[in-house]
Amino acid sequence: MSKLCVYILVCVLTVSDAYNVLLFFPFPGKSHAILGDGYVRNLLEAGHNVTYIASASSTINSYRLRQIDSSACITLFPKDMFNIDQKVNKESRSVSITTLMHSVYNYTLHIDAVQQLMRDPNEKFDAVIVEWMYNEIAAGLATVFDCPLIWSSSVIPHTMVLSLIGDNLNPAYTFHMQTKSRSFTLSKRIDQLFTTIKIQYERWSITREAEAIFRSVFEPILTKKGKQLPSYNEVRYNASFMLGNGNLITSDPVALPSNYKDIGGYHINEKADPLPQNFKTVMDNATEGAIYFSLGSLLPVRTMSEEMKAKFLKIFSNLNQTVIWKSDVAIHNVSKNVHVVNWAPQQRILGHPNCRLFITHAGLLSITEAVYFGVPVIGMPFFADQFNNINKAEWTGFGKNFDLSKNSLDDLEGVIDDMLNKPRYRQRAKEVSSIYHHRLITPGQELVHWVEHVIQTRGALHLRSYAMEVEWYQKLYLDLLAILLMALVAVLIIVKYTRSQVNIVVRKNKKTN
Ligand SMILES: *[C@@H]1O[C@H](CO)[C@@H](O)[C@H](O)[C@H]1NC(C)=O
Ligand SMILES: *[C@@H]1O[C@H](CO)[C@@H](O)[C@H](O)[C@H]1NC(C)=O
Repeated sequence: MSKLCVYILVCVLTVSDAYNVLLFFPFPGKSHAILGDGYVRNLLEAGHNVTYIASASSTINSYRLRQIDSSACITLFPKDMFNIDQKVNKESRSVSITTLMHSVYNYTLHIDAVQQLMRDPNEKFDAVIVEWMYNEIAAGLATVFDCPLIWSSSVIPHTMVLSLIGDNLNPAYTFHMQTKSRSFTLSKRIDQLFTTIKIQYERWSITREAEAIFRSVFEPILTKKGKQLPSYNEVRYNASFMLGNGNLITSDPVALPSNYKDIGGYHINEKADPLPQNFKTVMDNATEGAIYFSLGSLLPVRTMSEEMKAKFLKIFSNLNQTVIWKSDVAIHNVSKNVHVVNWAPQQRILGHPNCRLFITHAGLLSITEAVYFGVPVIGMPFFADQFNNINKAEWTGFGKNFDLSKNSLDDLEGVIDDMLNKPRYRQRAKEVSSIYHHRLITPGQELVHWVEHVIQTRGALHLRSYAMEVEWYQKLYLDLLAILLMALVAVLIIVKYTRSQVNIVVRKNKKTN
């Protein structure tokens, strides 16, 4: 009887293991909102309680979800920072992304509701998940709530984030996130080495600025709690885990620390609503196939020149396929195979059997969805990892890079024609899709699993890379090199001294002879 009671008690305790998780996703971009929403959805479905600090409120309704809106930080961004016309003509203003992110994170941490949360002694969290965007200031949230820190990285594994939990990638045989070519020639390897050093130098040079913000935010709170704030470096290099947004196809095969896992694709909601009727009719009727054209959420079509719009329309009107063009502005005089829409259920369109081609800005979410549904892509990259994403797709064989700042739009028709009529692109897209889907559990389940693993093991210390305990010069064996050099110098000195002594003796002997 008592055994049964214990058994029941154990069952109840294991089932009711709901954790309190704090999510910090301040970057005000649509794709980042989708990523944050993916965490919210998967953690709620697993029965946990979520507090979500983000620039876009989640579309999910749940009594276990508490939201803190930080969208006002959008005012920190220059207006139309992402401008198609300027990017194409290479006239982009240079904005320091790190400085911008420092102000966004600083701003968000100072919002009243966030301050209240941090100051409330009754608030308890089992883990804090912070989106990494070119800074580590918010790592202090884990210190405030005395719980493990998990990084969420919105891209594929890259040297900047991996150095936070392990080591830099070896530049001789890995690519940097913004790389534009994929080869290992000497000049390319020098370029990669130089880039890695430059990145680390830049990160090092802004540490003081970041540490000042970190102290200004967290010192008063820790002091009030009667605790001392550890140094910025102690806190930011102390994460328990990192969840990245790559997958078997989009990420390169690189050696990763045990506490890094790629869960790219977790944002895709298999249970999402089906295609709305108006889209369904258009897609079902596209017997010659449909092309979906969207440059993502950050690059508004209103920043595209009239001339470029007209050229796109002319190309599309010559096609037998149906074209769905996602645009924030109305476009007039379109031929009847072209449908301009200001919103589109992208995943459902790509998942429709008639979808034959995706023309995209090559953002990682779009590429991941193309992989998921097995649709070939033409990528028009503009910034950040988009160049690498489409280059990887081209190299893998299911995509083509059509950089608008290099290619003339006159050539687009030929490329579309190629992609539609050469079966290898579609075949390869189906192949990469089956590689993606060949897995033990879904990325969403993996997300939940690792968050729970970190919480249950109180920080997953057993997964931490020993690289965190070794200084950079020790990793490069520069200490050994120094010892060898000193030994060499010592030997040379001894040899020189002995020779001079021998010479003296020899000379003396000569004289006496
Ligand atoms: C580092 O993380 C572990 C596990 O979450 C935690 O116990 C420890 O207090 C943290 N140390 C610092 C300096 O933040
Ligand atoms: C469109 O379809 C017609 C009739 O099937 C065909 O003759 C023509 O070559 C097609 N055009 C293109 C651009 O594929």
